[in-house]
Amino acid sequence: MLQQYDSLVLGSGVAGLTLALKLARLGTVAVITKKNRAESNTNYAQGGIACVTSAEDSVALHVQDTLVAGAGLCREEVVRSYVAEAPARIRELIGIGVRFSARSNGGAAPGGELDLGREGGHSKRRILHAKDMTGREVERALLRAVERHPDVTIFEDATAIDLITSAKVGRPGPNRCLGVYVLDNRTNRVDTFVAKVTALATGGCGKCYLYTTNPDIATGDGVAMAFRAGVSVANMEFIQFHPTCLYHPFAKSFLVSEALRGEGAVLVDAAGREFATKYDPRGSLAPRDVVARAIDAEMKRSGAPCVYLDITRNGEPFLRERFPNIFGYCESLGINIARQPIPVVPAAHYQCGGVLVNPSGATALAGLYAVGEVACTGLHGANRLASNSLLEALVLAHRSAVAIGDSLGAIRAEVNVPEWEEGEASDPDELVIVTHNWKEIRQIMWDYVGIVRTDKRLERAGRRLEILLREIHEYYWNFKVTSDLLELRNLALVSWLIVQSAMRRKESRGLHYTLNYPGLLPAARDTLVDRGEG
Ligand code: FAD
Ligand code: SIN
Repeated sequence: MLQQYDSLVLGSGVAGLTLALKLARLGTVAVITKKNRAESNTNYAQGGIACVTSAEDSVALHVQDTLVAGAGLCREEVVRSYVAEAPARIRELIGIGVRFSARSNGGAAPGGELDLGREGGHSKRRILHAKDMTGREVERALLRAVERHPDVTIFEDATAIDLITSAKVGRPGPNRCLGVYVLDNRTNRVDTFVAKVTALATGGCGKCYLYTTNPDIATGDGVAMAFRAGVSVANMEFIQFHPTCLYHPFAKSFLVSEALRGEGAVLVDAAGREFATKYDPRGSLAPRDVVARAIDAEMKRSGAPCVYLDITRNGEPFLRERFPNIFGYCESLGINIARQPIPVVPAAHYQCGGVLVNPSGATALAGLYAVGEVACTGLHGANRLASNSLLEALVLAHRSAVAIGDSLGAIRAEVNVPEWEEGEASDPDELVIVTHNWKEIRQIMWDYVGIVRTDKRLERAGRRLEILLREIHEYYWNFKVTSDLLELRNLALVSWLIVQSAMRRKESRGLHYTLNYPGLLPAARDTLVDRGEG
Protein backbone atom coordinates (compact mmCIF):
# COMPACT_ATOMS: atom_id res chain seq x y z
CA MET A 1 0.00 0.00 0.00
CA LEU A 2 1.27 3.50 -0.83
CA GLN A 3 1.15 6.16 1.89
CA GLN A 4 2.03 9.77 1.21
CA TYR A 5 2.94 12.51 3.72
CA ASP A 6 4.92 15.73 3.66
CA SER A 7 7.36 14.38 6.27
CA LEU A 8 8.19 10.97 7.70
CA VAL A 9 9.69 10.56 11.15
CA LEU A 10 11.06 7.10 11.98
CA GLY A 11 10.93 6.66 15.76
CA SER A 12 8.86 8.00 18.63
CA GLY A 13 11.39 8.83 21.35
CA VAL A 14 12.28 12.36 22.43
CA ALA A 15 13.96 13.20 19.11
CA GLY A 16 11.23 11.84 16.84
CA LEU A 17 8.32 13.28 18.79
CA THR A 18 9.93 16.70 19.19
CA LEU A 19 10.62 16.83 15.48
CA ALA A 20 7.16 15.55 14.52
CA LEU A 21 5.50 18.18 16.69
CA LYS A 22 7.44 20.95 14.98
CA LEU A 23 7.07 19.55 11.46
CA ALA A 24 3.31 19.35 11.94
CA ARG A 25 3.28 23.14 11.61
CA LEU A 26 4.52 22.70 8.03
CA GLY A 27 2.32 19.88 6.75
CA THR A 28 1.31 16.27 7.29
CA VAL A 29 3.61 14.00 9.30
CA ALA A 30 3.72 10.21 9.72
CA VAL A 31 5.52 8.89 12.79
CA ILE A 32 6.53 5.28 12.18
CA THR A 33 7.50 3.30 15.25
CA LYS A 34 8.26 -0.37 15.58
CA LYS A 35 6.66 -1.24 18.94
CA ASN A 36 4.12 0.69 20.99
CA ARG A 37 4.49 4.44 20.76
CA ALA A 38 6.13 4.97 24.17
CA GLU A 39 8.68 2.17 23.84
CA SER A 40 12.03 3.89 23.39
CA ASN A 41 15.28 4.53 25.24
CA THR A 42 13.78 7.89 26.11
CA ASN A 43 11.07 6.26 28.19
CA TYR A 44 13.70 4.69 30.49
CA ALA A 45 15.92 7.76 30.95
CA GLN A 46 16.43 8.33 34.64
CA GLY A 47 18.99 10.98 35.58
CA GLY A 48 17.70 13.94 33.60
CA ILE A 49 18.60 16.70 31.18
CA ALA A 50 21.74 18.78 31.54
CA CYS A 51 20.97 22.49 31.22
CA VAL A 52 22.35 25.66 32.74
CA THR A 53 19.60 27.22 34.86
CA SER A 54 21.34 28.25 38.08
CA ALA A 55 23.07 31.55 38.83
CA GLU A 56 26.03 29.55 40.20
CA ASP A 57 26.47 27.81 36.86
CA SER A 58 27.40 29.09 33.40
CA VAL A 59 27.31 28.03 29.76
CA ALA A 60 31.11 28.24 29.77
CA LEU A 61 31.33 25.65 32.56
CA HIS A 62 28.87 23.27 30.90
CA VAL A 63 30.84 23.63 27.66
CA GLN A 64 34.09 22.96 29.50
CA ASP A 65 32.71 19.81 31.20
CA THR A 66 31.39 18.51 27.86
CA LEU A 67 34.73 19.10 26.14
CA VAL A 68 36.68 17.40 28.93
CA ALA A 69 34.44 14.32 28.82
CA GLY A 70 34.66 14.26 25.01
CA ALA A 71 38.46 13.78 25.20
CA GLY A 72 39.45 16.25 22.50
CA LEU A 73 37.05 15.00 19.82
CA CYS A 74 33.99 17.23 20.37
CA ARG A 75 33.19 19.82 17.73
CA GLU A 76 33.63 22.87 19.88
CA GLU A 77 31.28 25.16 17.95
CA VAL A 78 28.55 22.51 18.19
CA VAL A 79 29.10 22.15 21.93
CA ARG A 80 28.95 25.91 22.50
CA SER A 81 25.81 26.48 20.47
CA TYR A 82 23.93 23.39 21.71
CA VAL A 83 24.65 24.13 25.37
CA ALA A 84 23.64 27.78 24.90
CA GLU A 85 20.36 26.75 23.23
CA ALA A 86 19.37 24.21 25.90
CA PRO A 87 17.39 26.61 28.18
CA ALA A 88 15.11 27.61 25.27
CA ARG A 89 14.34 23.96 24.52
CA ILE A 90 13.68 23.25 28.20
CA ARG A 91 11.22 26.14 28.33
CA GLU A 92 9.38 24.51 25.42
CA LEU A 93 9.19 21.21 27.29
CA ILE A 94 7.79 22.96 30.35
CA GLY A 95 5.38 24.73 27.98
CA ILE A 96 3.92 21.41 26.79
CA GLY A 97 3.52 20.23 30.38
CA VAL A 98 6.72 18.44 31.42
CA ARG A 99 6.86 18.57 35.22
CA PHE A 100 10.42 18.69 36.44
CA SER A 101 11.06 18.09 40.13
CA ALA A 102 10.98 21.27 42.16
CA ARG A 103 13.40 22.01 44.94
CA SER A 104 11.00 22.94 47.68
CA ASN A 105 9.26 19.58 47.94
CA GLY A 106 11.37 17.29 45.74
CA GLY A 107 8.16 16.46 43.90
CA ALA A 108 6.81 17.44 40.52
CA ALA A 109 5.43 20.96 40.80
CA PRO A 110 5.39 23.66 38.16
CA GLY A 111 6.44 27.08 39.35
CA GLY A 112 8.78 26.00 42.16
CA GLU A 113 12.55 26.43 41.91
CA LEU A 114 13.82 23.48 39.92
CA ASP A 115 15.80 20.84 41.78
CA LEU A 116 19.22 20.31 40.19
CA GLY A 117 20.86 16.91 40.24
CA ARG A 118 24.53 16.17 39.79
CA GLU A 119 26.21 13.48 37.72
CA GLY A 120 29.71 12.35 36.79
CA GLY A 121 31.89 14.86 34.96
CA HIS A 122 29.68 17.85 35.83
CA SER A 123 31.39 20.58 37.83
CA LYS A 124 28.01 21.97 38.99
CA ARG A 125 24.57 20.76 39.88
CA ARG A 126 22.72 21.26 36.58
CA ILE A 127 20.57 18.20 35.86
CA LEU A 128 16.85 18.88 35.53
CA HIS A 129 14.93 15.76 36.39
CA ALA A 130 11.53 14.31 37.18
CA LYS A 131 12.60 12.31 40.23
CA ASP A 132 14.35 9.26 38.68
CA MET A 133 11.89 8.90 35.79
CA THR A 134 12.75 11.90 33.64
CA GLY A 135 12.37 10.08 30.34
CA ARG A 136 8.93 8.76 31.18
CA GLU A 137 7.74 12.26 32.00
CA VAL A 138 9.20 13.77 28.81
CA GLU A 139 7.79 10.95 26.68
CA ARG A 140 4.36 11.32 28.30
CA ALA A 141 4.13 15.04 27.64
CA LEU A 142 5.48 14.83 24.08
CA LEU A 143 3.14 11.99 23.17
CA ARG A 144 0.17 13.89 24.53
CA ALA A 145 1.10 16.95 22.49
CA VAL A 146 1.67 14.93 19.31
CA GLU A 147 -1.52 12.91 19.72
CA ARG A 148 -3.49 16.16 19.92
CA HIS A 149 -2.13 17.40 16.63
CA PRO A 150 -4.49 16.67 13.72
CA ASP A 151 -1.69 16.57 11.16
CA VAL A 152 0.35 13.82 12.82
CA THR A 153 -0.48 10.13 12.33
CA ILE A 154 1.35 7.56 14.43
CA PHE A 155 1.89 4.08 12.96
CA GLU A 156 2.72 1.60 15.73
CA ASP A 157 4.12 -1.92 15.24
CA ALA A 158 5.61 -0.65 12.00
CA THR A 159 9.27 -1.46 11.34
CA ALA A 160 11.12 0.66 8.79
CA ILE A 161 13.07 -1.73 6.56
CA ASP A 162 15.07 0.41 4.18
CA LEU A 163 15.19 3.90 2.76
CA ILE A 164 13.96 4.42 -0.79
CA THR A 165 16.41 6.52 -2.76
CA SER A 166 16.05 7.89 -6.27
CA ALA A 167 19.24 6.09 -7.30
CA LYS A 168 17.91 2.78 -6.02
CA VAL A 169 14.70 3.09 -8.01
CA GLY A 170 16.52 4.25 -11.12
CA ARG A 171 15.52 7.93 -11.22
CA PRO A 172 17.95 10.22 -13.07
CA GLY A 173 19.45 13.28 -11.40
CA PRO A 174 21.07 13.80 -8.01
CA ASN A 175 20.34 11.09 -5.47
CA ARG A 176 17.73 11.88 -2.81
CA CYS A 177 15.67 10.06 -0.23
CA LEU A 178 12.08 9.47 -1.38
CA GLY A 179 10.73 7.59 1.62
CA VAL A 180 10.91 4.21 3.27
CA TYR A 181 9.59 0.64 3.05
CA VAL A 182 7.82 -0.35 6.25
CA LEU A 183 6.82 -3.77 7.56
CA ASP A 184 3.45 -3.78 9.31
CA ASN A 185 4.27 -6.22 12.10
CA ARG A 186 0.60 -7.06 12.65
CA THR A 187 -0.22 -8.11 9.07
CA ASN A 188 3.29 -8.83 7.71
CA ARG A 189 2.52 -6.54 4.76
CA VAL A 190 5.21 -4.16 3.48
CA ASP A 191 3.93 -0.63 2.84
CA THR A 192 5.60 2.10 0.82
CA PHE A 193 5.77 5.48 2.56
CA VAL A 194 6.80 8.45 0.43
CA ALA A 195 7.49 12.02 1.58
CA LYS A 196 9.41 15.16 0.73
CA VAL A 197 11.60 14.64 3.77
CA THR A 198 12.44 11.58 5.90
CA ALA A 199 14.04 11.78 9.36
CA LEU A 200 15.74 8.94 11.19
CA ALA A 201 15.01 9.15 14.92
CA THR A 202 15.56 5.47 15.60
CA GLY A 203 17.85 5.75 18.63
CA GLY A 204 20.94 3.71 19.46
CA CYS A 205 22.32 0.18 19.28
CA GLY A 206 22.78 -1.08 22.86
CA LYS A 207 21.38 -4.48 21.89
CA CYS A 208 24.58 -5.20 19.95
CA TYR A 209 25.97 -6.17 23.35
CA LEU A 210 24.97 -9.05 25.59
CA TYR A 211 24.57 -6.75 28.57
CA THR A 212 22.95 -3.37 28.06
CA THR A 213 20.79 -0.81 29.82
CA ASN A 214 18.79 -0.37 26.59
CA PRO A 215 15.35 -1.80 25.86
CA ASP A 216 14.81 -4.22 22.96
CA ILE A 217 14.16 -1.51 20.34
CA ALA A 218 17.82 -0.40 20.37
CA THR A 219 19.10 -2.45 17.41
CA GLY A 220 20.84 0.30 15.44
CA ASP A 221 18.26 0.27 12.61
CA GLY A 222 18.78 3.90 11.57
CA VAL A 223 22.55 3.61 11.29
CA ALA A 224 22.18 0.42 9.25
CA MET A 225 19.54 1.92 6.94
CA ALA A 226 21.56 5.08 6.35
CA PHE A 227 24.73 3.11 5.69
CA ARG A 228 22.96 0.86 3.20
CA ALA A 229 21.66 4.02 1.48
CA GLY A 230 25.22 5.29 1.07
CA VAL A 231 25.43 7.75 3.97
CA SER A 232 28.67 7.82 5.99
CA VAL A 233 28.66 6.85 9.64
CA ALA A 234 31.06 8.39 12.12
CA ASN A 235 32.78 7.45 15.37
CA MET A 236 30.94 4.18 15.95
CA GLU A 237 33.79 2.84 18.10
CA PHE A 238 32.67 5.12 20.94
CA ILE A 239 30.13 2.93 22.68
CA GLN A 240 29.48 4.20 26.17
CA PHE A 241 29.28 1.63 28.95
CA HIS A 242 27.26 2.86 31.90
CA PRO A 243 29.10 1.93 35.09
CA THR A 244 26.07 0.93 37.12
CA CYS A 245 23.55 -1.51 35.67
CA LEU A 246 21.81 -3.59 38.33
CA TYR A 247 23.40 -7.04 38.74
CA HIS A 248 20.66 -9.50 39.62
CA PRO A 249 19.49 -12.74 37.95
CA PHE A 250 15.92 -11.45 37.59
CA ALA A 251 16.73 -7.90 36.48
CA LYS A 252 16.77 -7.19 32.76
CA SER A 253 18.73 -4.11 31.73
CA PHE A 254 17.83 -2.06 34.80
CA LEU A 255 19.89 1.11 35.19
CA VAL A 256 20.92 2.47 38.57
CA SER A 257 21.18 6.16 37.77
CA GLU A 258 24.40 8.12 38.02
CA ALA A 259 22.29 10.60 39.98
CA LEU A 260 22.78 8.32 43.00
CA ARG A 261 26.50 9.03 42.85
CA GLY A 262 25.57 12.70 42.51
CA GLU A 263 23.83 12.35 45.89
CA GLY A 264 26.85 10.72 47.51
CA ALA A 265 26.72 7.03 46.54
CA VAL A 266 30.16 5.44 46.42
CA LEU A 267 31.43 2.41 44.51
CA VAL A 268 32.83 -0.27 46.80
CA ASP A 269 34.12 -3.83 46.48
CA ALA A 270 32.61 -6.89 48.16
CA ALA A 271 34.45 -5.99 51.39
CA GLY A 272 32.98 -2.47 51.38
CA ARG A 273 36.23 -0.76 50.36
CA GLU A 274 35.96 2.32 48.14
CA PHE A 275 38.15 1.78 45.05
CA ALA A 276 37.38 4.41 42.38
CA THR A 277 39.83 7.00 43.77
CA LYS A 278 42.66 4.54 43.09
CA TYR A 279 41.94 5.11 39.39
CA ASP A 280 41.03 8.82 39.32
CA PRO A 281 40.99 11.54 41.99
CA ARG A 282 37.38 12.32 41.06
CA GLY A 283 36.49 8.82 42.31
CA SER A 284 32.94 7.57 41.75
CA LEU A 285 31.98 10.86 40.07
CA ALA A 286 34.64 10.80 37.36
CA PRO A 287 33.31 10.68 33.76
CA ARG A 288 31.74 7.38 32.73
CA ASP A 289 34.57 6.00 30.63
CA VAL A 290 36.93 6.32 33.59
CA VAL A 291 34.52 4.81 36.12
CA ALA A 292 33.48 1.92 33.84
CA ARG A 293 37.14 1.05 33.23
CA ALA A 294 37.87 1.21 36.95
CA ILE A 295 35.05 -1.25 37.65
CA ASP A 296 36.16 -3.52 34.82
CA ALA A 297 39.73 -3.53 36.16
CA GLU A 298 38.53 -4.18 39.72
CA MET A 299 36.30 -7.08 38.63
CA LYS A 300 39.09 -8.62 36.54
CA ARG A 301 41.57 -8.23 39.41
CA SER A 302 39.33 -9.76 42.08
CA GLY A 303 37.41 -12.20 39.87
CA ALA A 304 34.18 -10.85 41.42
CA PRO A 305 31.06 -10.92 39.23
CA CYS A 306 30.05 -7.36 40.24
CA VAL A 307 30.91 -4.39 42.44
CA TYR A 308 28.57 -2.45 44.73
CA LEU A 309 27.09 1.01 44.90
CA ASP A 310 26.67 2.16 48.48
CA ILE A 311 24.13 4.91 49.17
CA THR A 312 23.25 3.75 52.69
CA ARG A 313 24.53 6.99 54.22
CA ASN A 314 21.37 8.70 52.86
CA GLY A 315 18.23 8.06 54.86
CA GLU A 316 15.38 5.89 53.60
CA PRO A 317 12.80 8.73 53.43
CA PHE A 318 15.10 10.78 51.17
CA LEU A 319 15.87 7.80 48.94
CA ARG A 320 12.23 6.78 48.59
CA GLU A 321 11.29 10.35 47.67
CA ARG A 322 14.18 11.20 45.32
CA PHE A 323 14.56 7.77 43.65
CA PRO A 324 11.15 6.08 43.88
CA ASN A 325 11.63 4.00 40.73
CA ILE A 326 15.05 2.63 41.69
CA PHE A 327 14.07 2.17 45.32
CA GLY A 328 10.89 0.32 44.41
CA TYR A 329 12.47 -1.90 41.77
CA CYS A 330 15.38 -2.93 43.99
CA GLU A 331 12.99 -3.49 46.89
CA SER A 332 10.89 -5.80 44.69
CA LEU A 333 14.05 -7.90 44.24
CA GLY A 334 14.75 -7.94 47.99
CA ILE A 335 17.36 -5.16 48.03
CA ASN A 336 16.70 -2.25 50.40
CA ILE A 337 19.07 0.39 49.03
CA ALA A 338 18.93 2.38 52.28
CA ARG A 339 20.38 -0.58 54.16
CA GLN A 340 22.55 -2.53 51.75
CA PRO A 341 24.85 -1.76 48.83
CA ILE A 342 23.46 -2.36 45.35
CA PRO A 343 25.21 -4.98 43.17
CA VAL A 344 26.15 -3.34 39.85
CA VAL A 345 28.10 -4.02 36.65
CA PRO A 346 28.90 -1.87 33.61
CA ALA A 347 26.70 -2.40 30.54
CA ALA A 348 26.46 -0.96 27.02
CA HIS A 349 24.43 2.22 27.27
CA TYR A 350 24.87 4.80 24.54
CA GLN A 351 26.10 5.18 20.97
CA CYS A 352 28.19 8.37 20.75
CA GLY A 353 28.77 8.06 17.01
CA GLY A 354 26.16 7.53 14.33
CA VAL A 355 24.88 8.85 11.04
CA LEU A 356 27.04 11.81 10.06
CA VAL A 357 24.96 15.01 10.10
CA ASN A 358 25.56 18.73 10.04
CA PRO A 359 24.52 20.75 13.15
CA SER A 360 20.97 20.94 11.72
CA GLY A 361 20.60 17.19 11.30
CA ALA A 362 20.97 17.07 7.50
CA THR A 363 22.82 14.05 6.11
CA ALA A 364 24.74 14.03 2.85
CA LEU A 365 21.70 12.38 1.17
CA ALA A 366 19.23 15.07 0.11
CA GLY A 367 15.87 14.68 1.85
CA LEU A 368 17.30 12.61 4.72
CA TYR A 369 17.78 13.95 8.25
CA ALA A 370 18.91 12.18 11.42
CA VAL A 371 18.11 13.33 14.96
CA GLY A 372 18.80 12.02 18.46
CA GLU A 373 21.03 9.12 19.40
CA VAL A 374 21.16 7.81 15.81
CA ALA A 375 23.00 10.95 14.69
CA CYS A 376 26.58 12.07 15.12
CA THR A 377 26.73 15.85 15.44
CA GLY A 378 30.11 16.11 17.16
CA LEU A 379 28.58 17.16 20.50
CA HIS A 380 29.78 14.11 22.41
CA GLY A 381 33.18 13.52 20.85
CA ALA A 382 34.81 10.40 22.26
CA ASN A 383 32.58 10.18 25.35
CA ARG A 384 29.20 11.69 26.15
CA LEU A 385 28.81 13.73 29.31
CA ALA A 386 25.95 12.42 31.47
CA SER A 387 22.50 13.81 30.62
CA ASN A 388 23.71 15.55 27.46
CA SER A 389 21.81 13.10 25.26
CA LEU A 390 18.27 14.29 25.90
CA LEU A 391 19.62 17.81 25.55
CA GLU A 392 21.16 17.00 22.15
CA ALA A 393 17.97 15.34 20.92
CA LEU A 394 15.88 18.41 21.79
CA VAL A 395 18.23 20.94 20.20
CA LEU A 396 18.90 18.83 17.10
CA ALA A 397 15.19 18.14 16.50
CA HIS A 398 14.46 21.85 16.76
CA ARG A 399 17.22 22.77 14.33
CA SER A 400 16.20 20.08 11.89
CA ALA A 401 12.64 21.38 11.92
CA VAL A 402 13.91 24.88 11.13
CA ALA A 403 16.12 23.61 8.30
CA ILE A 404 13.33 21.45 6.87
CA GLY A 405 10.95 24.41 7.10
CA ASP A 406 13.35 26.43 4.95
CA SER A 407 13.39 23.81 2.19
CA LEU A 408 10.08 21.92 2.25
CA GLY A 409 8.16 24.31 0.01
CA ALA A 410 10.63 23.84 -2.84
CA ILE A 411 10.51 20.01 -2.80
CA ARG A 412 8.16 18.21 -5.17
CA ALA A 413 6.64 15.03 -3.76
CA GLU A 414 7.58 11.88 -5.66
CA VAL A 415 4.68 9.46 -5.76
CA ASN A 416 5.70 7.21 -8.60
CA VAL A 417 7.80 4.89 -6.45
CA PRO A 418 7.85 1.11 -6.98
CA GLU A 419 6.24 -0.88 -4.23
CA TRP A 420 8.10 -3.60 -2.28
CA GLU A 421 8.64 -6.77 -4.26
CA GLU A 422 8.66 -10.09 -2.51
CA GLY A 423 9.99 -11.97 -5.54
CA GLU A 424 10.52 -15.67 -4.90
CA ALA A 425 10.84 -15.29 -1.12
CA SER A 426 9.14 -18.01 0.87
CA ASP A 427 8.10 -18.23 4.52
CA PRO A 428 11.16 -18.62 6.77
CA ASP A 429 11.95 -22.30 7.37
CA GLU A 430 14.32 -22.38 10.34
CA LEU A 431 13.88 -19.47 12.73
CA VAL A 432 16.61 -20.94 14.90
CA ILE A 433 19.11 -19.25 12.56
CA VAL A 434 17.73 -15.88 13.64
CA THR A 435 17.79 -16.62 17.36
CA HIS A 436 21.20 -18.30 17.23
CA ASN A 437 22.88 -15.51 15.26
CA TRP A 438 21.29 -12.88 17.49
CA LYS A 439 22.86 -14.46 20.58
CA GLU A 440 26.18 -15.08 18.88
CA ILE A 441 26.59 -11.46 17.74
CA ARG A 442 25.84 -10.07 21.19
CA GLN A 443 28.27 -12.49 22.83
CA ILE A 444 31.02 -11.67 20.29
CA MET A 445 30.57 -7.95 20.90
CA TRP A 446 30.60 -8.35 24.67
CA ASP A 447 33.68 -10.59 24.73
CA TYR A 448 35.80 -8.94 22.05
CA VAL A 449 34.60 -5.35 21.55
CA GLY A 450 33.91 -4.24 25.12
CA ILE A 451 35.40 -1.77 27.56
CA VAL A 452 39.01 -2.87 26.96
CA ARG A 453 39.97 -3.84 23.42
CA THR A 454 42.97 -5.28 21.58
CA ASP A 455 43.78 -5.66 17.90
CA LYS A 456 43.53 -9.43 18.21
CA ARG A 457 40.08 -9.33 19.81
CA LEU A 458 38.81 -6.89 17.19
CA GLU A 459 40.16 -9.00 14.34
CA ARG A 460 38.52 -12.09 15.81
CA ALA A 461 35.20 -10.26 16.12
CA GLY A 462 35.49 -8.86 12.59
CA ARG A 463 36.13 -12.29 11.04
CA ARG A 464 33.18 -13.89 12.82
CA LEU A 465 30.83 -11.01 12.04
CA GLU A 466 31.65 -11.21 8.34
CA ILE A 467 30.62 -14.88 8.26
CA LEU A 468 27.40 -14.03 10.08
CA LEU A 469 26.69 -11.10 7.76
CA ARG A 470 26.96 -13.33 4.72
CA GLU A 471 24.66 -15.91 6.26
CA ILE A 472 22.08 -13.30 7.26
CA HIS A 473 22.27 -11.64 3.85
CA GLU A 474 21.45 -14.93 2.15
CA TYR A 475 18.60 -15.62 4.55
CA TYR A 476 17.22 -12.09 4.01
CA TRP A 477 17.01 -12.57 0.24
CA ASN A 478 15.54 -16.06 0.35
CA PHE A 479 12.78 -15.62 2.93
CA LYS A 480 9.96 -13.21 3.64
CA VAL A 481 10.99 -10.50 6.08
CA THR A 482 9.96 -10.56 9.73
CA SER A 483 10.69 -7.92 12.35
CA ASP A 484 13.18 -10.27 14.09
CA LEU A 485 15.08 -10.85 10.87
CA LEU A 486 15.19 -7.12 10.12
CA GLU A 487 16.59 -6.37 13.57
CA LEU A 488 19.15 -9.15 13.27
CA ARG A 489 20.28 -7.84 9.89
CA ASN A 490 20.76 -4.36 11.34
CA LEU A 491 22.42 -5.60 14.53
CA ALA A 492 24.98 -7.55 12.50
CA LEU A 493 25.80 -4.61 10.24
CA VAL A 494 26.08 -2.11 13.08
CA SER A 495 28.27 -4.48 15.10
CA TRP A 496 30.52 -4.78 12.07
CA LEU A 497 30.62 -0.97 11.78
CA ILE A 498 31.65 -0.70 15.42
CA VAL A 499 34.47 -3.18 14.85
CA GLN A 500 35.63 -1.47 11.64
CA SER A 501 35.71 1.89 13.38
CA ALA A 502 37.51 0.48 16.42
CA MET A 503 40.16 -1.16 14.23
CA ARG A 504 40.91 2.15 12.56
CA ARG A 505 41.54 4.06 15.78
CA LYS A 506 45.18 3.46 16.64
CA GLU A 507 45.05 5.21 20.01
CA SER A 508 43.09 5.13 23.27
CA ARG A 509 40.71 8.06 23.44
CA GLY A 510 37.58 8.47 25.55
CA LEU A 511 35.47 5.33 25.36
CA HIS A 512 37.82 3.53 22.97
CA TYR A 513 40.54 1.93 25.09
CA THR A 514 42.93 -0.55 23.51
CA LEU A 515 45.90 -2.30 25.10
CA ASN A 516 47.79 -2.11 21.79
CA TYR A 517 47.74 1.70 21.67
CA PRO A 518 47.35 2.98 25.23
CA GLY A 519 48.42 6.54 24.35
CA LEU A 520 46.70 9.46 22.68
CA LEU A 521 47.63 10.59 19.16
CA PRO A 522 48.45 14.32 18.92
CA ALA A 523 45.52 15.12 16.59
CA ALA A 524 41.93 14.08 17.28
CA ARG A 525 40.20 12.77 14.16
CA ASP A 526 36.75 11.36 13.43
CA THR A 527 36.45 7.80 12.14
CA LEU A 528 34.31 7.63 9.01
CA VAL A 529 33.07 4.45 7.35
CA ASP A 530 31.46 4.62 3.92
CA ARG A 531 29.17 2.26 2.06
CA GLY A 532 31.77 1.53 -0.60
CA GLU A 533 33.71 -0.34 2.07
CA GLY A 534 30.75 -2.45 3.21
P1 FAD B 1 14.83 6.54 21.40
O1 FAD B 1 14.23 7.22 22.54
O2 FAD B 1 15.55 5.28 21.65
O3 FAD B 1 13.67 6.26 20.34
C1 FAD B 1 13.92 5.47 19.20
C2 FAD B 1 12.59 5.19 18.54
O4 FAD B 1 12.81 4.62 17.26
C3 FAD B 1 11.73 4.19 19.28
O5 FAD B 1 10.41 4.63 19.21
C4 FAD B 1 11.90 2.90 18.48
O6 FAD B 1 10.84 1.99 18.58
C5 FAD B 1 11.99 3.47 17.09
N1 FAD B 1 12.63 2.62 16.09
C6 FAD B 1 13.87 2.08 16.11
N2 FAD B 1 14.09 1.40 14.98
C7 FAD B 1 12.97 1.51 14.22
C8 FAD B 1 12.57 1.03 12.95
N3 FAD B 1 13.36 0.25 12.19
N4 FAD B 1 11.34 1.33 12.49
C9 FAD B 1 10.49 2.09 13.23
N5 FAD B 1 10.82 2.57 14.46
C10 FAD B 1 12.04 2.29 14.93
N6 FAD B 1 20.17 10.41 28.45
C11 FAD B 1 20.14 11.57 29.12
O7 FAD B 1 20.45 12.63 28.56
N7 FAD B 1 19.73 11.60 30.42
C12 FAD B 1 19.36 10.47 31.09
O8 FAD B 1 18.99 10.54 32.24
C13 FAD B 1 19.42 9.24 30.41
N8 FAD B 1 19.11 8.09 31.04
C14 FAD B 1 19.08 6.93 30.32
C15 FAD B 1 18.66 5.76 30.95
C16 FAD B 1 18.56 4.58 30.23
C17 FAD B 1 18.11 3.32 30.89
C18 FAD B 1 18.87 4.58 28.84
C19 FAD B 1 18.74 3.32 28.04
C20 FAD B 1 19.31 5.73 28.23
C21 FAD B 1 19.41 6.91 28.96
N9 FAD B 1 19.83 8.09 28.36
C22 FAD B 1 19.81 9.26 29.06
C23 FAD B 1 20.07 8.15 26.92
C24 FAD B 1 18.80 8.71 26.26
O9 FAD B 1 17.68 8.19 26.90
C25 FAD B 1 18.73 8.35 24.80
O10 FAD B 1 19.93 8.63 24.16
C26 FAD B 1 17.62 9.16 24.13
O11 FAD B 1 16.42 8.96 24.81
C27 FAD B 1 17.50 8.75 22.69
O12 FAD B 1 16.36 9.36 22.17
P2 FAD B 1 15.98 9.09 20.66
O13 FAD B 1 14.70 9.77 20.43
O14 FAD B 1 17.12 9.40 19.80
O15 FAD B 1 15.80 7.49 20.59
C1 SIN C 1 21.72 7.99 34.39
O1 SIN C 1 20.69 8.34 34.94
O2 SIN C 1 22.70 7.55 34.98
C2 SIN C 1 21.78 8.05 32.90
C3 SIN C 1 22.12 9.40 32.49
C4 SIN C 1 22.60 9.45 31.08
O3 SIN C 1 22.68 8.42 30.39
O4 SIN C 1 22.94 10.54 30.66
